[in-house]
Amino acid sequence: MNLPNIIKSQQLYSLAEQIIPAGTQTLAKGVGQHSRNVSPIYIEKGKGSHVWDIDGSEYLDMSMAVGPVSLGYCYDAVDNAIKEQLEKGITFSLMHPLEYEVAELISAIVPNAEMVRFSKTGADVTSAAIRLARAYTGRDDVLCCGYHGWHDWYISVTDRNAGIPQDTQNHTYTFDYNNIQSLLQSINDKTAAVILEPMTFTMPQSNFLQEVREVCNKHGAVLIFDEMWTGWRLALGGAQEYFGVNADMVCFSKAIANGMPLSVLCGIKPIMKLLEKDVFFFTTFGGETLSLAAAKATIKEMELHNVPEYLQKQGNTLYNEVHSIIKKNSIDWLDCVGNPVRTMLTYNHPEFSALELKTLIHQELLRYGILWNGFHTMSFSHNDSDIERVIQAYSEILPSVQNAVCNKSVGSLIKGELMKPVFRKTTHFNTKPV
Ligand SMILES: Cc1ncc(COP(=O)(O)O)c(C=O)c1O
Repeated sequence: MNLPNIIKSQQLYSLAEQIIPAGTQTLAKGVGQHSRNVSPIYIEKGKGSHVWDIDGSEYLDMSMAVGPVSLGYCYDAVDNAIKEQLEKGITFSLMHPLEYEVAELISAIVPNAEMVRFSKTGADVTSAAIRLARAYTGRDDVLCCGYHGWHDWYISVTDRNAGIPQDTQNHTYTFDYNNIQSLLQSINDKTAAVILEPMTFTMPQSNFLQEVREVCNKHGAVLIFDEMWTGWRLALGGAQEYFGVNADMVCFSKAIANGMPLSVLCGIKPIMKLLEKDVFFFTTFGGETLSLAAAKATIKEMELHNVPEYLQKQGNTLYNEVHSIIKKNSIDWLDCVGNPVRTMLTYNHPEFSALELKTLIHQELLRYGILWNGFHTMSFSHNDSDIERVIQAYSEILPSVQNAVCNKSVGSLIKGELMKPVFRKTTHFNTKPV
């Protein structure tokens, strides 16, 4: 099967990269996270779980806009809610009732969401949560685990920390997931907040989340769950409900509004109430109504159809089948990990790098019309035939990739550029010096 024609994508990108630094607004959508000269670069439209690139090719999308499109592209119930609101206006000179309606919906579903505020990006709300924790505790230090957005307090722990004052860098360190010792080693009476993604691709082990909760209680640190990925996917009440552990504050974005830009900060009253006077967190578009209308419709659809359960079911079929293809072909360097609602392939071969193997699989999936950059992000629109299409593609591709590995011909089969490493790291970096 042929690789897609990407002439228009290539032409447009050669112009765009002259005036858009890094070429993209979202790193995970950029050319570095796809094989350049092979993969499409621009999408024109989507419907359900399918997208069409600007050269006219159709793809089954396994990335779903890197998280936000939880129900599906152009999902009628959400789009109709947006259109209905659009007829009435987008942003007003006073507040809009949707602010209360959506806050109330969230408060009724999410544990500990005694108070709720809205903003636009994930980084907006993780940063607001950190500022609140600092104000509440009168302390400065933050311990984090996961990725939490582009703002100074977090990105200072990464190697992309240029432009951030040293003093800011001195206040945030990381701890390792499923390693309570690494938290105990760093937490002390200067720690304002412990913020973590409750799960990325490994299930919490040995009551890890419960232990994190207890350690925070013991040291008087505020516990924040960054639920950009787990929220509205693992369960309607997110990771708190799924794992039975409550945080003091929780941050959501991505899946909550099926692609519209909305983020949510919620938490317990004593902390959230600081937003009334001491802590400043206001923004022009925080109450923008199209996104709130989309969130209201998305949450209602999720409740009506028990979407998290559906994502589990479809993801589980895919997960199990991928495992059986791997086993059947004795591919000992490949694994599929994560919670069924969002899984990824991992690679461990002594001779070929993870990026070579991933690039080859990505390239071969494109021949089957599957847009994939390492992850399987389930949406409510991934129906049985979509899942079957991915399974069928893997069952044909993986044996030939395994052949290439055995014949040492991986490099010669890769037609485009190698994919770049994923930016996010979750363990073993910038831990606190002991
Ligand atoms: C876990 C997590 N936290 C925070 C963010 C930042 O969100 P945003 O890019 O909307 O600022 C992301 C974005 O991918 C994320 O995955």
